[in-house]
Amino acid sequence: MSSLVVSDEHATPSTATVVQPAWVRVVHWTNAFAMILMIMSGWQIYNASPLFDFRFASSITLGGWLGGALLWHFAAMWLLMVNGLIYLALGLATGRFRKKLLPISPSGVIADTKAALTFKLAHDDLSRYNYVQKLLYAGIIVVGVVIVLSGLSIWKLVQLQWLTALFGGYDIARYVHFICMALIVAFLVVHVVLALLVPKSLRAMIIGR
Ligand code: HEM
Repeated sequence: MSSLVVSDEHATPSTATVVQPAWVRVVHWTNAFAMILMIMSGWQIYNASPLFDFRFASSITLGGWLGGALLWHFAAMWLLMVNGLIYLALGLATGRFRKKLLPISPSGVIADTKAALTFKLAHDDLSRYNYVQKLLYAGIIVVGVVIVLSGLSIWKLVQLQWLTALFGGYDIARYVHFICMALIVAFLVVHVVLALLVPKSLRAMIIGR
């Protein structure tokens, strides 16, 4: 943590600097931990009454049974929501969202997708996101907000009936909740694979070693 010296404004790539500010790293790893708990307990909840023609293997679920999984889900929910609110507040207050994620233009996304598919995407400045990254990061923030709202709508059916109605009722809200989970898992897989593919020299630069 002590090597995290760079603010957003000064995040230029050099061997002495770090790409992400400290608060982003703390919030990111807290989110990763909470998300894994939510996903694994959610899979156990799903198994009690599957929406589709399959169940998740018990080795990758959390809670042991429906009641246990719900307890895990609602406990990790607080961590996820408080951490998420801190992330949104700091992202807006520091101007990080505006600087890092905007603008997103369709032509930019198309050009960067083509460059990525032909292995011509530049990786020389890790402090700036390309258009595909911008779209995916902004998109996954929206998915994160929708999964929390749909979760609240299926949890507090009576108190938040306006929210459940907004999703088109309990059944649809449940599907929305599940589809958001699937999008988050897909994002996670791509995110981790790409993080592992970043050349070691650049990773050494990011973590300051
Ligand atoms: C933070 C707000 C959240 C709340 C309040 C919440 C609440 C709930 C509730 C009440 C259920 C039981 C639904 C039912 O079958 O009646 C559920 C199921 C589930 N949740 Fe969440 N959840 C939240 C976030 C998440 C997150 C972040 C994930 C994963 C990334 C997730 C994944 C799942 C899955 C996979 C199920 C099972 C889907 C089903 O079969 O209905 N949830 N959630």
